[in-house]
Formats: sequence, structure tokens, C-alpha cells
Amino acid sequence: MVEKPVKSILFVCLGNICRSPLAEGVFRAVLAERGLDGEFTIDSAGTGGWHAGSAPDPRSIAVAALHGIDIAPQQARKVVPADFERFDLILGMDRSNVDDLMALAPQQVRDRVELFLGHATGRPQEVPDPYYGGEDGFLAVYRMIREASEALADRISEPASVPLSGQASSTM
Ligand code: 4NP
Repeated sequence: MVEKPVKSILFVCLGNICRSPLAEGVFRAVLAERGLDGEFTIDSAGTGGWHAGSAPDPRSIAVAALHGIDIAPQQARKVVPADFERFDLILGMDRSNVDDLMALAPQQVRDRVELFLGHATGRPQEVPDPYYGGEDGFLAVYRMIREASEALADRISEPASVPLSGQASSTM
């Protein structure tokens, strides 16, 4: 669990063409809706490099577009060692992504790696790989990512310290 204020987040899946580009786009949109874009560095990457340089999967582009979000300009890339220094939080979509990231991460920064939904919502669920499924799988993935992105935005925009209960102003 990362304690310092989070200012940069990397979303990670296997290919960086289906889930993590969607998470990057949806989370950017959630931040923009809250007037918080510009305050955070957001990116996505894959633990595998087979699709490096490719645009997101057309089904991810379509489900994002359906919700007014343009992820078409994104380009897939593979996780690189510098990511573990550059990002405060590195969120894997499923447990195998988290395991692969943990194997790559220097020991002193392994606490930056977490399961996306677990960190965001407290429910340690995976975002399932929709690559070999149908379009309804992409819609389900979109919904999970949207809910988790709202929860993550709540978390990272919370003030670092909130007053203890019972210490509210007497003018209230
Ligand atoms: P992603 O989905 O990890 O959500 O981008 C996949 C994309 C490609 C492959 C697997 C998963 N693939 O085996 O090529």
C-alpha cells in the first residue's frame, strides 16, 4: 500500500490493446470531468510486447467511443524498468499481470504494484481478459473500469489529512 500522495498512475494488462488502454482513457475522462486533468500523469502498458506500436483493439475503441471517449490515438507499449521509478502506482488488471509486474519490480518499489479493482474499490476482483470473447465482454470490462475509475479518483483526490470526527467547527 502506497502512503505518499499519488501523482502518477500506470495501468497494466497483458497486451496493452484491450483493458489498460480503456482504463487509461476512462480514468483520464473521469479526471477531466472533475477538473483534475493536468494534475496527474496517466499512462498504460503491457507486460507483453507483441502489440507494441499498435492502436487499441477496435472493440475497445468502439466501447470507449460509445461513452464519448476517444482512445484511438493510443499506441501499445511494453512495461520498461523505468516505469517502476516513474509511477507512484502501477495497477494490474488481473492477478497474472500483478504477478508479472512483481517479478519485474525492484524490491523497494513492489508496494507500488496492486490489483486495479482491489486498490480502487477494496474488492479484490480482476478485470477479465476480453480478447478472445465477444463485444459484450468489452462492455462488461468498460463498466468495471468505469466504476473502479470513479472510486480511484475519489481516493487520490482525498485531502491527505481529514479532520477527526468530533472536531467539526462549532459554527455548524
Ligand atoms: P489485453 O488483452 O491484455 O487486455 O490487452 C489481450 C490482448 C492480446 C492478447 C492477449 C490479451 N494476445 O494474446 O495477443
